[in-house]
Amino acid sequence: MKCILMNKNKKVLLAEYDKATGVFTNVYEIYDINYAPYILKSSYLSNDINDTFRTNLTEWFKGRGIPSWRDRLDLLLHRLNINAPCELLDKAFGLSLSDQYFLCPLNSNIKYEDINFFDNDFDYTEFMEASLSKNSSIITNVSSLKTPNNTTDGMLRKAWIIDNNIRYLLKGGYKNETLQPFNEALASEICKRLDFSHVEYTLDIYKNIVVSKCPCFITKDTELITCHQIVNDMKKYNSLQDYEEYIKKLEKEGIENPRIKLENMYILDFLIMNEDRHLNNFGIIRDVNTLKWLDVAPIFDNGQSLNIEYYDDVEMHIKGEGKLFYEIKPFDEIIKVVKDIKRIDINKLDGIVEWFDELLHKYQKITEYSDTRINRLCILLNRQVNKLKKLIENS
Ligand SMILES: Nc1ncnc2c1ncn2[C@@H]1O[C@H](COP(=O)(O)OP(=O)(O)OP(=O)(O)O)[C@@H](O)[C@H]1O
Ligand SMILES: [Mg+2]
Repeated sequence: MKCILMNKNKKVLLAEYDKATGVFTNVYEIYDINYAPYILKSSYLSNDINDTFRTNLTEWFKGRGIPSWRDRLDLLLHRLNINAPCELLDKAFGLSLSDQYFLCPLNSNIKYEDINFFDNDFDYTEFMEASLSKNSSIITNVSSLKTPNNTTDGMLRKAWIIDNNIRYLLKGGYKNETLQPFNEALASEICKRLDFSHVEYTLDIYKNIVVSKCPCFITKDTELITCHQIVNDMKKYNSLQDYEEYIKKLEKEGIENPRIKLENMYILDFLIMNEDRHLNNFGIIRDVNTLKWLDVAPIFDNGQSLNIEYYDDVEMHIKGEGKLFYEIKPFDEIIKVVKDIKRIDINKLDGIVEWFDELLHKYQKITEYSDTRINRLCILLNRQVNKLKKLIENS
């Protein structure tokens, strides 16, 4: 299929896309590389459409699909009646709710205004059921595959839905572990109290399963560029230096106070012991019309936290390690990136442990968490809050 890669209404390039294999077999012409996905632009060196560029284009597009490590992918594919996630990619032009790129077949009259999922409603019920519910039948309605759910990243089972005209992402737990949505809600409460820019996660119940629910933080005029894309072509040193280089890059692009905003994310990670701050779990927001870098993306995806590997009456095993760029490090090390920890008013977290305790008890009938487990989770949270308090006092 001859098609144009579009970024909203801007033509990026003309290419041949093989639907069967999901490969771009040819790139005929570049119209405007500046509007290309960031990771692609940085690989377009010396204006040369070479094999590497074609491969990168294919990789980028494949990467828009549901990843191979998605929890219960086999079951999802079975329910969607397809063989591989890449089969979904051309069902809705590769459109997503995290950016504005799409593949427009050459000589078609398709317009961004008519197809984007920010303005145009989509049929999400069947996909939501296939993705999140314990029992679901096989999807037979083709329009159920014309949704932004074809292009979601991440390990957790999830679904975009529309509620009151707002696009929300619902996320479940991982395998049989159901704590993730609660951690998202806790993270939002902490961020709200400490005034950290964040995506607001609330809890919802879908077919007796607790899920987290957050609004889309991208608009028709913006895109998320993850840190992974930004640092892809930057020289790698060690995690601390890479972190500093990343901050420099954001400052150079005109983002205000990136250091403070990144520090806030690591403070949150410290408090809830988030183990999963990989480079696609934070980034920046760019204006797709002007290409101006607008801001650091609000803090999102905080679910893999408060991970107690084992506990009994006398002991509790925890890993106690998070991520700082490419390295896995103890939280006590990562928190050292915060230059002025005194700026945090820790009193704003008074009562947060009780708040979490109440939340976990409220849903206990569904989650079947024992009182002991809830107690251990609260002990862990309390320990981190107190540790931060000490760090602030001693700084
Ligand atoms: N509220 C949102 N608005 C727009 N895009 C979002 C939103 N939440 C998540 N995304 C996009 O969807 C991707 C997957 O979401 P998220 O990171 O929350 O899922 P996950 O399954 O927990 O991921 P991981 O594999 O890192 O555990 C994100 O990397 C981001 O690109
Ligand atoms: Mg993620």
